[in-house]
Amino acid sequence: MKPNIKIFKNINELSLAAAQLFIESASQAIAVRGQFLVGLSGGSTPNHLYQLLAGAPHCDSIDWQKAHVFWGDERLVPMGDHGSNYFQARTALLDHVNIPADNVHRVQSDLEPASAALDYARTLKQFSAPQLDWPRFDLVLLGMGDDGHTASLFPGSPMDVSEPVIAVTANYQDRPANRITLTPMVFNSARRIIFLISGLSKAVTLTQVLSDVSRMDSLPAQRIRPTEGELLWLVDEAAASRL
Ligand code: 6PG
Repeated sequence: MKPNIKIFKNINELSLAAAQLFIESASQAIAVRGQFLVGLSGGSTPNHLYQLLAGAPHCDSIDWQKAHVFWGDERLVPMGDHGSNYFQARTALLDHVNIPADNVHRVQSDLEPASAALDYARTLKQFSAPQLDWPRFDLVLLGMGDDGHTASLFPGSPMDVSEPVIAVTANYQDRPANRITLTPMVFNSARRIIFLISGLSKAVTLTQVLSDVSRMDSLPAQRIRPTEGELLWLVDEAAASRL
């Protein structure tokens, strides 16, 4: 199936489009199911989107009282550490909107890796969809590393994972190594998945990921194939320059 790619001049225009899609997903989910379940991404790319959502007019377009926020992955550092995906989203977005504290479902990142993974699987189970042990997210935001990883699914990581959440140790740039990540079977049950990809350093990898050649082992972003949901790629011109 031809990937649904939208190309934007720069990260600002990409983030504006992402904000509109975020609001659309939230409004639709709340109208139909009374709540909006969203999985946030870490990394630098989504920061501008989070800041947009935190300010007018976007912040007034979402009923944050009915939103529940989760993370697709988390670094196992203290919750106030700048390397924490929770800290990033809290400072850029969640501290600025009226989302109830009980609706923010952060990873217990001070636990040992295996315990943190089990604990988060229990958190997901509280919102499980029929026949699943985890929620059918209304929206999942994902990024992609220049090595083709997404969330904390890194090249060479096990493919036949039957757990919804796993502990991972990985070295990528100067980022914290110990992490937990949701696994493809959770991501792929989402109603809508949006990749946010920006920058020339992603261009070659993005071309490989979007090619017809399946290399899911070395390019984990290819493991993201929603069973029924929509998959959108929001990329800027630099990242799309080799397509
Ligand atoms: C993380 C993210 C990770 C990120 C990519 C891209 O915890 O860091 O889950 O998968 O999305 O590494 O990061 P950038 O947006 O900074 O390029």
